[in-house]
Amino acid sequence: MRIGILGTGTLATALATGWTRAGHDISIGGRSPERADAAAKASGAHSRPVPEVAVDADAVLLSVHWQGVADILRAAGAPTGSLAGKPLIDPTNAVEHGIGVLQLQSGRAMAHHVAELAPGAQVVKAFQLFPSTRWTTPASSPATVAMCGDDPRALEIVGSLVRDVGGVPAVLGGLDRARQLEEVAGFVIALAFAGVDPQLAIPAVPSSRANETPPQP
Ligand SMILES: NC(=O)c1ccc[n+]([C@@H]2O[C@H](COP(=O)([O-])OP(=O)(O)OC[C@H]3O[C@@H](n4cnc5c(N)ncnc54)[C@H](OP(=O)(O)O)[C@@H]3O)[C@@H](O)[C@H]2O)c1
Repeated sequence: MRIGILGTGTLATALATGWTRAGHDISIGGRSPERADAAAKASGAHSRPVPEVAVDADAVLLSVHWQGVADILRAAGAPTGSLAGKPLIDPTNAVEHGIGVLQLQSGRAMAHHVAELAPGAQVVKAFQLFPSTRWTTPASSPATVAMCGDDPRALEIVGSLVRDVGGVPAVLGGLDRARQLEEVAGFVIALAFAGVDPQLAIPAVPSSRANETPPQP
């Protein structure tokens, strides 16, 4: 697949690395061409100016700080439809640094803002929970990546990209579930900053289908 990545930071570089290893063709761009070049060099991707990142992409990852989302989507031409019809992966966490509280009005999710700023894009909330290192470092068991979105084809594509970096996709529902996924990330971040291992704060509740694999998109 051709994947466009908007953003040149830690998560962008990690997923670019993982997807390059899986054989995908990655274009990466951000507001700093120098940082785009560095991220491309580190990950095996190609750097491109932001307006060109998504032009021929089969899927796009939006990997910037939440306060930069509107700027980079504007620079990519999203408000005028440049991402229409494309799966747009939103991993952003609009949380207060060190505290984990969501910085959005009640009921709103970053994924909803993203969908408004990128008309026609098939937004999928995914990759917001695990640290970026999870996608470049071998692990003893695969991470389950809870995700949500309204377009079945986009969920299928993003699900395959999850598998390509060693994860197992689990679709929670439509984009109306995004706030829940974002709150969970805030909860995990809050515990981590409080010095608690988040895994110890979650009960080992058996799945109702314990012997089955998680739902696949
Ligand atoms: N890192 C993780 O483990 C992880 C895990 C899950 C989700 N996430 C989410 O993924 C997103 C990226 O995280 P990260 O850790 O990769 O962050 P990061 O390393 O700090 O990189 C942030 C990126 O956002 C860009 N940016 C910031 N403000 C911008 C603006 N106004 N306009 C355009 N670009 C702007 C930065 O550009 P400059 O370099 O020019 O500042 C940089 O490319 C965040 O929303 C984060 O919540 C991260």
